[in-house]
Amino acid sequence: MDVKVSAAKQLRGSIRTAGDKSVSHRYAMLAGVAEGTSEFENFSSSADCASTLACMEALGAHVRRNGNHVEVEGVGGELQAPQRGLDCGNSGSTMRMLGGVVAAQPFTSVMSGDVSLSKRPMQRIIEPLERMGARIESHQGCAPLVIHGSRLRAIEYHPPVASAQVKSCVLLAGLFAEGETTVIEPVRTRDHTELAIKAFGGEITRQGERVSVAGGQKLRALKAYVPGDLSSVTFFLCAAALFPGSSLVVDSVLLNPTRSVVLDVLSGMGVKIGFLKVEEQFGELVGTLQAEGGAFIGGEIRGAQSAALIDELPAIAAVAPYSQKGIEIRDAAELRVKESDRIAAVVHNLRAMGAEVEEFADGMRIPGSQKLHGARIESFDDHRIAMAFAVAALRAEGESTIAGAEAVAVSFPEFFEALRSVVE
Ligand code: S3P
Repeated sequence: MDVKVSAAKQLRGSIRTAGDKSVSHRYAMLAGVAEGTSEFENFSSSADCASTLACMEALGAHVRRNGNHVEVEGVGGELQAPQRGLDCGNSGSTMRMLGGVVAAQPFTSVMSGDVSLSKRPMQRIIEPLERMGARIESHQGCAPLVIHGSRLRAIEYHPPVASAQVKSCVLLAGLFAEGETTVIEPVRTRDHTELAIKAFGGEITRQGERVSVAGGQKLRALKAYVPGDLSSVTFFLCAAALFPGSSLVVDSVLLNPTRSVVLDVLSGMGVKIGFLKVEEQFGELVGTLQAEGGAFIGGEIRGAQSAALIDELPAIAAVAPYSQKGIEIRDAAELRVKESDRIAAVVHNLRAMGAEVEEFADGMRIPGSQKLHGARIESFDDHRIAMAFAVAALRAEGESTIAGAEAVAVSFPEFFEALRSVVE
């Protein structure tokens, strides 16, 4: 599907997004193994989370869905052997995190995904799960994965990459393992799994970078509202950065500190961001955001900041040419193994719009104060690339066409509708 985007003058209004994708995945998985019926309001509308729900159903949980209201009747412990393969679609989170759960069940599961997911690295979960006692067949470290589950033993694990998915995989497997499983993170990553395990009545502890969970815990059902997806909101904040007169209000959005680094970075680059009504819900910080465009200065993103911003970097990079000083992103080689090679995809599309950009193995340098023209944008079947360049197109001269725009459904099906509602 092609979507045309032309230049805008500013952004004004309010948006509310469906529930956070990362939180929704975890709630769906834990609800599936918990005892009782969980109910979620504002559950993510993403195709990715629909993949997780379908997998949980295949594993014996009962799922009822009415729009963003989702009920999951859990199995109260052991899942059922699936009668069919577990189709994870485009969702790395589903494959990696649920991989940890099924590795601990007394049956074999086959996990597969689409073309993009079948190319993404899975050795990062195979290695710790095999150390815990599972046996996993893969296609040279990639999906499809045949996971022969068994009774697992606890391990102490130092993941070689900063990845919340890998940490979560091991901790979720640890919930079923014999003994206490510990993950020592190289860099602190999003902590939704830890918070969700507590919200479902489980015990999990953190001491510095060590996160530990004991096996054999009983989880109980949860009724919760899923806070809005901050990674989805980021596209609107980057759009606001492009127009000094912009003003946006975003209700009920996730403000978890392990995710909100993007707000610090965009504030540092000149977007004025304020908060209203911040509160804690089941361990997650939630609040209302107010954002106004100011001078868009630019700057550098590297080290732990790159890891914390991994999902937001495409949006920031796509608007970087319009910043005053430009933006340099380093230590972000993980971008190359996301739904697409996001460094190559960003560089390709920026160049198509006439921008100057220097590509590195682990990032890019994008000079500031550039003028871009409309172009045919390639989504590379990657939701975040489609959305990032729909935003970049708002400041370009002339019309842009986003080819493969349907990819937005992977995380944010309402994206174009929401954008139209605030663009003037
Ligand atoms: C996610 C973690 C990140 C992120 C992904 C969602 C999660 O992946 O890119 O979109 O929900 O834990 P990695 O942990 O592999 O970096």
